[in-house]
Amino acid sequence: MRALVTGGCGFIGSHVVRGLLADGWEVTNLDKLTYAANPANLAEAEGHPRYRFVQGDICDLALVRELMDGADLVLNFAAETHVDRSLLEPGVFVRTDVEGVVTLLEAARARPGTALVHMSTDEVFGSIPAPGEAAEDAPFAPSSPYAASKAAAELMVRAYAETYGMAVTVLRCCNVYGPNQHVEKFIPLFTMRALAGEPMPLYGDGMQEREWLYAGDFVEALRVVLRELPAEPGVHAVHIGSGERVRNRETAELICELLERPRELITPVADRPGHDRRYALDSSRLRARGWRPRVPFREGLAATVAWYRDHGAAWAQTASGEFARYFERQYGERLARR
Ligand code: TYD
Repeated sequence: MRALVTGGCGFIGSHVVRGLLADGWEVTNLDKLTYAANPANLAEAEGHPRYRFVQGDICDLALVRELMDGADLVLNFAAETHVDRSLLEPGVFVRTDVEGVVTLLEAARARPGTALVHMSTDEVFGSIPAPGEAAEDAPFAPSSPYAASKAAAELMVRAYAETYGMAVTVLRCCNVYGPNQHVEKFIPLFTMRALAGEPMPLYGDGMQEREWLYAGDFVEALRVVLRELPAEPGVHAVHIGSGERVRNRETAELICELLERPRELITPVADRPGHDRRYALDSSRLRARGWRPRVPFREGLAATVAWYRDHGAAWAQTASGEFARYFERQYGERLARR
């Protein structure tokens, strides 16, 4: 079986590519290699006889058409994903996260034999007040340009499914963490800052809740989904949530504890505008299909923090100049004003 994975050099995409190769798939990875990609994430796949890397953009229809030829499955993990960057530069999110998905839909509609799985996010629902959980049919209420771009992509998926009778599976997942994630994101950033003994910039009161899923558990969830991909026309949404909802301050404190660093490094800074307080998914449908997350948050966090202790410096070097400029833009004033 042949799969086309987009964004396979990114965080979640790289875990997926490795999982598919282990399961015997032939994998083509189409990746633009934006700032968020790290080819080192897939170093062990290079040279694998069933793996092929193509550098390119999911907005390039001719290229996407060519690569989709002969593919049984298309998995879209190509996206701009960082909420803070979407506040600084929303245009690129519309381009990749919306136009890119339309390009994939255009190419896929001519190929009824190709199954399409699109990665979305719990952020399409906006903040979910406790003790609520968003079910698959909950209404969209995105708060950030990132979340809105993912919601817009889902609406385009729906339109294509209605108009052309396509069957598309949409994965809405909670926050994923683990090795290979870009150092701009909360857990890697706080780990790297703690390791360096530098202030860890906690937005607002730090009482926001996120639902955390270990990357390996995401791959297991995908395996369950791929076992039975629905062929009936329509959008088939699947919620993938760990149920482990943790306040940001607590996560930051756990990182300090695991690295034996003082909690005083945790530094409250000006909040992210439009910051969602809480995400929570109802993933009972997927659990009824046999999936369970296996790695508890504390255990996954310990493994992740250890990975960044060993590999973080190399990661930071890959990201170096661009990341330093972004960090200054995002945190310079916040940290100076605290
Ligand atoms: P993030 O990793 O950006 O994921 P998302 O916003 O998509 O959930 O952030 C996770 C949480 O951590 C979120 O509530 C924002 C918070 N956060 C901080 O407090 N400080 C930071 O520097 C970052 C990057 C995030």
